[in-house]
Amino acid sequence: MEEELIQIKNAAVSLILEVSDKKTLEEIKLQFLGRSGKLTLSIKDIAKLPVEKRPDVGRLANEVKKAIEETIANQELRIKNQELGERIEKVDTSAPGIKPNIGHLHPMTQVLTDVVDVFKTIGFQVAEGPEIESDYYNFEVLNIPKDHPSRDTQQTLCLDTRKSKVIPGEVILRTQTSAMQGRIMKKINPPVRVIVPGKNFRYEQVDASHGFEFWQVEGFFVDKEVRLTDLFGTIDYVLRKLMGEGIKLKFATTNFPFVEPGVDTYIECTVCKGAGCSFCKQMGWSEIMPAGMIHPNVLKAVGYNPKALSGFAFAIGLSRLVTLRYQMDDLRLLTNPDLRILNQF
Ligand code: DAH
Repeated sequence: MEEELIQIKNAAVSLILEVSDKKTLEEIKLQFLGRSGKLTLSIKDIAKLPVEKRPDVGRLANEVKKAIEETIANQELRIKNQELGERIEKVDTSAPGIKPNIGHLHPMTQVLTDVVDVFKTIGFQVAEGPEIESDYYNFEVLNIPKDHPSRDTQQTLCLDTRKSKVIPGEVILRTQTSAMQGRIMKKINPPVRVIVPGKNFRYEQVDASHGFEFWQVEGFFVDKEVRLTDLFGTIDYVLRKLMGEGIKLKFATTNFPFVEPGVDTYIECTVCKGAGCSFCKQMGWSEIMPAGMIHPNVLKAVGYNPKALSGFAFAIGLSRLVTLRYQMDDLRLLTNPDLRILNQF
């Protein structure tokens, strides 16, 4: 009986150590330890032995069982580790990873950041102001009295003030960032060199080149003896920094009530290089930066002495700058959240 048990153990152990898959291991386990397994049957036979022999043989049988069970457990672990190792080997660590989706600044923000950086290098400060504005700062202080015809060009959105004591039409959504000229100049003594980026609102029909909500960067400079040539020099410097040294610019006279003379700045169309295309409406040029010498009436209205001081003002149409830089033919693309558009910048 003892010999038989030892033989069972040896047979089981050598079989188990040869196995390399879980299924066969399971089969061998049944073959020896199952209900009609070899060891199980031998153990049952112990009862047939004379009583005095039973304890020793019983102890041996237990040892054999334990040894087989341990060998199975070890082999199971070995098979598991082997499978894991094979799986690890299949991972190609030299393969390129999956690129995480990282956002980036909107093209408007990118260009605005550039504008602010360029003006900072020539001594301009940056200010912001309210989008809900008074008629006084948006118009009156800028030499645009109530009945001035230029108000017609700025389709103004008024706030509903019927439930308050405010005169209707006095509180509006600002139509131009020029509204900050009065607010700032009333507070600061010259020299003032400030730019004001911000959103404006007009009751406009939206199309490829008009929005009812649009960004401008207003700027102005007041000091002793500021001249028109300073204005030209500043615009020239800034636009070359923003749009490239090779751009072509031209100036033309124009009319705004708060400047005299008024200046329109044109840049040669970046799409057709001046030949004329649908982007520049066949003109070869795009208007990019209206400006002018600040009207003496404005200087007076903010409390400056127009005989001792002079200055210039300008406005950059920010979306125009962006569309020209990236040669986009529709302004509305700038407010489209489609990632296929945004990922191109
Ligand atoms: N505020 C004007 C507008 O939105 C643009 C403008 C023209 C601003 C001439 C200026 C300027 O500062 O000098 O139509």
